[in-house]
Amino acid sequence: MERIIKIIENPYPIYIGEINAFDFERFQQIIKGFSKVVIIVDENTKIHCLPKIMGIPSLKNAKIIELKSGESTKTIQNAIDIWAEFTEMNLERNTLIVNLGGGVISDIGGFAATIFKRGLHYINIPTTLLAMIDASIGGKTGVNFKGYKNQLGVFSDPEVIFIDTDFLQTLPKRQLYAGFAEIIKHALIMDTSLWDMLLKIKPEDVYFQNEIIKRAVYVKSNIVNSDPLEKDIRKILNFGHTIAHSIESYSMKNDANPLLHGEAVAIGIICETYLSVVKNGLNAETAKQIYTYISSLFSRYNIDNNAIVELLQIIRQDKKNKNGKLNFTLISEIGKALIDNNIDEDLIAESIHFYSTLYV
Ligand SMILES: NC(=O)c1ccc[n+]([C@@H]2O[C@H](COP(=O)([O-])OP(=O)(O)OC[C@H]3O[C@@H](n4cnc5c(N)ncnc54)[C@H](O)[C@@H]3O)[C@@H](O)[C@H]2O)c1
Ligand SMILES: [Zn+2]
Repeated sequence: MERIIKIIENPYPIYIGEINAFDFERFQQIIKGFSKVVIIVDENTKIHCLPKIMGIPSLKNAKIIELKSGESTKTIQNAIDIWAEFTEMNLERNTLIVNLGGGVISDIGGFAATIFKRGLHYINIPTTLLAMIDASIGGKTGVNFKGYKNQLGVFSDPEVIFIDTDFLQTLPKRQLYAGFAEIIKHALIMDTSLWDMLLKIKPEDVYFQNEIIKRAVYVKSNIVNSDPLEKDIRKILNFGHTIAHSIESYSMKNDANPLLHGEAVAIGIICETYLSVVKNGLNAETAKQIYTYISSLFSRYNIDNNAIVELLQIIRQDKKNKNGKLNFTLISEIGKALIDNNIDEDLIAESIHFYSTLYV
């Protein structure tokens, strides 16, 4: 069996397989001989993932920059600290930056690489499921600012992405499930066969199911390639996300142990599937299959009436709204998404109520 498979070629190759089997020597010629390599890791990927790639000959002398793990790392101050380290290391433009981690590392690492000296080459080696099928692909890089997510950033593509599902072995189960919610979303907006495959497996099985990761990567890269700067079609990736973002912000403010983004997405998909039935004629039986599947994987999150009032306030401020209309991406059947649906607040509230009835 081939140990490395190229999933997609353009605008940059994405490979899946055993990372040590990749021919980094050839890669060195492709990007005209990088003189230095800097690997950016967080506390966890330093322990669990770095040892594996340090065995690759062209990475052996790499310098390491370690960041704290978690969303709070995505700050402009941390980017400044990275630039200070880059400066001390005398990095030239033919340096290769390797982002080894989840979406936090690819977002800040890609941003830091792109701004420094007008752009260093960088590659992504995603180590969370979410980063493998979503965050590492699509060229969005950046940091949070003044309480706003991804407020500062730039579009910039990596040279290449390597996906090695071995890294998932050490990923906490909660993180794995959160990433799985985005695979569910990819299937629902674009890939009916992926949906059929998902129904037959458990999230833990993705370790052995390169086919599922490949299809999910394919969905994301196809969408971003047809609309790299998010003018229209890329918005289909927002399915489940308008409500998810509000629940995520609400949870961050109110819970000691807030929901992960993907956990909020799972709830958002249920609510927006409900909206899809009412507004887009999604078949009720299909919707039921989606509700049953998602509620079997994710436990109930308590949302009372007061919470719904707060959630609606947050949704009103969503970046995606235009001219006072609340804007949603919905599906009309599995694999088919429609952007720019305007939904009344009453119906949004109803969909969130509906979510809570699923678990009783
Ligand atoms: N740029 C984009 O298009 C895009 C898309 C989606 C999400 N994002 C961003 O991605 C971020 C979320 O990414 P994430 O979910 O990967 O979170 P993350 O990077 O914070 O990783 C989650 C946790 O898992 C740990 N971890 C990572 N790999 C591990 C491994 N193999 N073994 C053990 N522990 C490991 C990390 O240290 C961290 O504690 C958010 O900041 C979000 O805004 C960006
Ligand atoms: Zn998401």
